[in-house]
Amino acid sequence: MISVRFAANEDRLGIDKITKEFSDHEYSHKPKYFTDAIETNNILIALHDKTVVGYLSFHVIWGNTPFIELLRVVASHQKQGIGALLLSEFEKNMRSEDYDEIVSSSEKINEIGNSFHKKQGFHSIGELDMVYGKEIFYLKSLS
Ligand SMILES: CC(C)(COP(=O)(O)OP(=O)(O)OC[C@H]1O[C@@H](n2cnc3c(N)ncnc32)[C@H](O)[C@@H]1OP(=O)(O)O)[C@@H](O)C(=O)NCCC(=O)NCCS
Repeated sequence: MISVRFAANEDRLGIDKITKEFSDHEYSHKPKYFTDAIETNNILIALHDKTVVGYLSFHVIWGNTPFIELLRVVASHQKQGIGALLLSEFEKNMRSEDYDEIVSSSEKINEIGNSFHKKQGFHSIGELDMVYGKEIFYLKSLS
């Protein structure tokens, strides 16, 4: 049974375990990023029983646009609808705060990340050249 909620300090070890699985870049996120995200309710987690199996972190940019920064589901639990569940819980929260749209992104070479966004109703709004390659940005209306 999968549940989704905002992360608390007790979830930190589980979050770190997933982060380690995905950290293969020198620009990977620093521990403080997650400390702050937990403190300010900027990270949702998916739990399988008591184990953290995925997370979605975000910030509201420009003061009016929620932006998904990280969306990760552990390999063993992918393709089971958990990414979609994290996203729908995020959307529910953003709707309840009266935001009309959300923005997200994925590396251009990340086929699964891009197909996930399209399947979930995002449309591409352009791409940027980042230090690691091209990043595609996506927008989704919440109305
Ligand atoms: C992208 C990611 C979060 C999706 O999580 P997930 O729990 O596996 O996704 P879901 O099971 O909810 O799948 C939803 C849709 O995404 C797409 N998708 C997910 N996994 C896919 C795969 N392996 N191949 C192709 N499409 C895939 C499909 O369209 C899928 O819909 P479907 O099952 O009806 O075909 C996960 O693959 C992941 O953590 N990837 C590494 C990190 C990453 O790339 N994050 C996204 C960019 S920030």
